[in-house]
Amino acid sequence: MDKLYIAMVGLPARGKTTVASKLQEGLAQEGLNVRIFNNGDLRREILGAASSRPEFYHPDNQDGREARDELARMNMERAQAFLAADGHVAILDATNVSTQRRRMLESAQEDHTVLWVECVNDDQELVDASILRKTRLPEFSGLTEQQAIASFKRRITYYEDIYAPLGRERFWVRVDSLTNRIIDEQVFHSVPYYVTIRDILVSDWIRNLYLVRHGQTLYNQEGRIGGDSDLTPEGFEQAEALGRHFHGFSIPYVFTSTRKRSHQTAAPIRKGQTRCTVTALPDFDEINAGVCEHMRYEDIKNTLPEEYRSRQRDKYNYVYPGGEGYVTLKPRVDRGLKKALFLSGNAEALMIVGHQAINRMILSHFLFRRTEDVPYIYIPQDQYFHITSTQKKKLFEQIRFTGRREQHSPSAT
Ligand code: F6P
Repeated sequence: MDKLYIAMVGLPARGKTTVASKLQEGLAQEGLNVRIFNNGDLRREILGAASSRPEFYHPDNQDGREARDELARMNMERAQAFLAADGHVAILDATNVSTQRRRMLESAQEDHTVLWVECVNDDQELVDASILRKTRLPEFSGLTEQQAIASFKRRITYYEDIYAPLGRERFWVRVDSLTNRIIDEQVFHSVPYYVTIRDILVSDWIRNLYLVRHGQTLYNQEGRIGGDSDLTPEGFEQAEALGRHFHGFSIPYVFTSTRKRSHQTAAPIRKGQTRCTVTALPDFDEINAGVCEHMRYEDIKNTLPEEYRSRQRDKYNYVYPGGEGYVTLKPRVDRGLKKALFLSGNAEALMIVGHQAINRMILSHFLFRRTEDVPYIYIPQDQYFHITSTQKKKLFEQIRFTGRREQHSPSAT
């Protein structure tokens, strides 16, 4: 069988490791023996915390540069040995941002084709969130969060100084790691497995997404829309039932909106987890009903009949005066979903605790409903959606979590 090196390229915190891992999983599903060789892991193992100082990465620091080149060579040799034995695809996961480094790697091996995969993502908000996640690594444990962020950002500027985008290499592809879009590519048919690789690069990679709606709120009870009300006793009971349902199963990432009802619903789920990061994203805040916020539908019908009728006529395209509509909600929810997927990396599972309109928009991403039907998708408060979406597997199920424990078993710890 053909053998291939895939070498990642990109600044730190651009999603390279996530892309490498989805390539590994997708190619393994094709029956290939694939292994990742990660320079960061090797560095931490061999050089320890001393190599986390930003000055280690200064382009003029010869010792640092040599140490990093040596690690790259070591991983290259390991990858070579892997391909010489029974490996099919060796993925070199490192920044490889300088032409000098890439030349070095190319000349160190001439046994098999190298495909360079460059990950870019210029979304500063996401890069910042990704940096924050990096600073939780044990190598920054001696620093405050602010110091760790500053240290990591300085490290990135040193990489920026020597960054040369791909272009002169023989086979390469540049991918937007946030949107899974191929930006540019130079690949010929001679690159083994490229058809599959390309498919994997452009696919969402969602192993398990649990999409939950918050429990019942005081406003739900009164039939009022919007606002920021608390859960009712029944809502808290629904949240506890969710906590019990997911207890003992691993959900390392939970995303909420910034609303109390979403936090209150997520709390018991968080409590049942040993390792779980909860992130509030404003992109998941419920539709803003503008002048109709806090009103009941019948109040709107009586006091703003024209608005009520317009919304009835075309619910998807209707925009509340001073607020939003489904049509305007779409870009922000799409963005929130991309963010959640980017920030959860290659995690086994993630959960979103959203709202009625928000969850409809998220579901529409997977359900292919006609747009006019999206605002009517049923989003119950005693059930959640379990979604899997990879290049080869699409799964969608709606599961009731109240009452007896379901047969369904979320991903085991
Ligand atoms: O009623 C709960 C709620 O989440 C409101 O806050 C929101 O305005 C509404 O659902 C969205 O649903 P619809 O678009 O059907 O009015």
